[in-house]
Amino acid sequence: MTIKPITTTNISTNPMLIVNPEIVDNTLNDLLQPEDQVLQHVRATCADKGLPAIEVSAQQGKMLELLVRTAKAQNILEIGTLGGYSTICLARGGGAESFVTTLEYEEHHAKVAHENLRYAGVHHRVGILVGDAHTTLAALSVSADPAYDFIFIDADKESNLDYTKWALALGTEDVTILVDNVIRDGRVIDPKRPDKLEFIKFLGEHPELDVSVVQTVGSKGWDGFVLAKRKRV
Ligand code: SAH
Ligand code: DHB
Ligand code: MG
Repeated sequence: MTIKPITTTNISTNPMLIVNPEIVDNTLNDLLQPEDQVLQHVRATCADKGLPAIEVSAQQGKMLELLVRTAKAQNILEIGTLGGYSTICLARGGGAESFVTTLEYEEHHAKVAHENLRYAGVHHRVGILVGDAHTTLAALSVSADPAYDFIFIDADKESNLDYTKWALALGTEDVTILVDNVIRDGRVIDPKRPDKLEFIKFLGEHPELDVSVVQTVGSKGWDGFVLAKRKRV
């Protein structure tokens, strides 16, 4: 392990060194090792199989695991599987008794995810449902499964409002809802895309939800997530 923390000294003595969020993330990853060998293999496999590099960062993945553990969630729903990187983080956070249902549109992504989940040894407690999430969510709503206590929304961004409504319908009385990629380089306030702020407005006005929106910066650039929880009655 090479640890090269950037110190005030080497910044000021090296004018060519440009500090940016990616370099900081690299240093944090060196020091904290959020990715074990399994997650490293999974990230590499996603790239090898031609998937877009849009899975959560190592730090974000660890945060997912910790949020699920903090919520003590056991029945977890994910919308947007890709290669299963975040799915593994959610499954680890839930622990041995938990189950993750994850929804993915692209068959190729689901296939890669299946292999990755097997590699990570969590495939027996993950179900991948292939198809348009709008359809699979409707199917889930009529099935007898108990309600979800943690829901991670990370698919087609224009459907965030729809997916949040589904999350409220399918969630427990104190469901935790996490929505990725809601800031997107500040485009959340683009006047040409009023729907993005409509989504935030919906969250703010919803009588059942406590909401925070946190901007993030790191190896995945400038983005952010919604963390919402159904209010206690
Ligand atoms: N959660 C993943 C990244 C998901 S990327 C991780 O962090 O590891 C977004 C995924 O959502 C892509 O795989 C894309 O194919 C999928 N997706 C896009 N639209 C969808 C839809 N309508 N229904 C289900 N999945 C969809
Ligand atoms: C995209 C999707 C994501 O989930 C993400 O984290 C970053 C980008 C995308 O579709 O471009
Ligand atoms: Mg995302």
